[in-house]
Amino acid sequence: MNKNTFTLIDNRDQTEYEYPILGASRGPQAVDMSKFYQESGLFSYDPGFTSTANCSSEITFINGEKGELRYRGHPIEELATKHNYLDVCYLLLHNKLPSKEEKVAFDLELRHRAFLPEGLRNLYDSFPDNAHPMSILSAATTALSTFYYEHLSLETQEDYYVMAHRIIAKIPTIAAFAYRKSIGASYIYPDIDKSFTENFLYMLRAYPGGKLKLTPNGHQEIKDIEIKALDTIFTLHADHEQNASTTVVRSVGSTGAHPYVAISSGISALWGRAHGGANESVIEQLRLIGSVENVEKYIAKAKDPNDPFRLMGFGHRVYKNFDPRAKILKQMQVELSKELNLDSELMQIAQKIESIALSDEYFIERKLYPNIDFYSGVILTSLKIPREMFTPIFVIGRTVGWITQWIESKQNPKAKIVRPRQLYTGE
Ligand code: ACO
Repeated sequence: MNKNTFTLIDNRDQTEYEYPILGASRGPQAVDMSKFYQESGLFSYDPGFTSTANCSSEITFINGEKGELRYRGHPIEELATKHNYLDVCYLLLHNKLPSKEEKVAFDLELRHRAFLPEGLRNLYDSFPDNAHPMSILSAATTALSTFYYEHLSLETQEDYYVMAHRIIAKIPTIAAFAYRKSIGASYIYPDIDKSFTENFLYMLRAYPGGKLKLTPNGHQEIKDIEIKALDTIFTLHADHEQNASTTVVRSVGSTGAHPYVAISSGISALWGRAHGGANESVIEQLRLIGSVENVEKYIAKAKDPNDPFRLMGFGHRVYKNFDPRAKILKQMQVELSKELNLDSELMQIAQKIESIALSDEYFIERKLYPNIDFYSGVILTSLKIPREMFTPIFVIGRTVGWITQWIESKQNPKAKIVRPRQLYTGE
């Protein structure tokens, strides 16, 4: 018997089916089931793809049991402490960290590409006041494909990079404009003298004309610690292998759609509160809980099988011990609390939830730990970023991951259209 195969026996008639086991450089190997239906006439049934690898990938590795996350082989802890977000973008896209010269050139290119086609502004005008920035972000990203239609057919590696750098550079501007629209304020254009992350905060906060004023309580100044915190959040969100939104990006990409339309679909998928929308829900929930005294009552609701209430920011499909990104952000929260006035009431409620949940049998048994969203919500609140911008910030960080995954799928000559089957139970 070939040791590198996997045998399935159909107990109805003892037919044996043998499938190759595919090697992995880290983590679980996979059984190549691609011929299963053709040979057996059966489908494999795996709702939510909990046991199914939809592709092979060289980009990001997660070990959920060990709480390990690596981009292109580099541990997230190293990237979050020794590098910045643009280094991480370069690493994901180019499969190597940039040299000094490459770093400067990449930074300048992104600054230069951060501006939006003027025609796109008209689209913003057509949205109602108070439109959620995520809706605008998704629509504007789709609309961007009309200005860069040529990216539908990419030929050289350089073509791919231009397309990718363009969307990474423009997404923060698209997001900042969406926010300005949602509060009825005039748009602030990017400032080429500012770095990627500082520029985003600037576009959110500046007054018309571009001045950042210092208010009596100091809110409008951009502090180094704020840039560092946001840059770390971008880094921690940059990629996360085949999560729901990335799977959507790959699926839409597999049909031959425009890359920016695929990214826009990823934005829509991310919005849900079971995915990227959780960071907004965490803060909503902390506000709903309202005071430390109410925490126990809400923990009981979360544990009640007859109550749909869930603790937002807890649990993860893959991380079953801890979320390494959450660990880094917890440390960042400590740093920030020394330098900024964190909302003490929210912090206390969050800390009480964390301490109860980490020692409660219900959460321990189900391996439910605080995830990245639990801490990012509190950190973004301390940066005075409005709640509706939390998920757009996730989008800014994740765009590089989506586009890198899209490129990998496009450059795989064996890639197929994503087309699962079903177990039909109807009439
Ligand atoms: N609060 C209370 N109970 C929970 C929670 C929670 N946050 N999460 C899971 N559970 C319980 C479920 O009720 C279930 O209990 P049961 O076995 O008694 O029925 C058990 O834990 C397993 O939960 P599933 O939903 O089957 O786990 P799954 O892996 O499918 O879901 C998910 C993961 C969606 C993240 C889930 O934990 C959740 O809804 N969390 C809250 C939302 C959230 O924080 N999302 C952000 C994820 S991170 C990210 O996208 C960046």
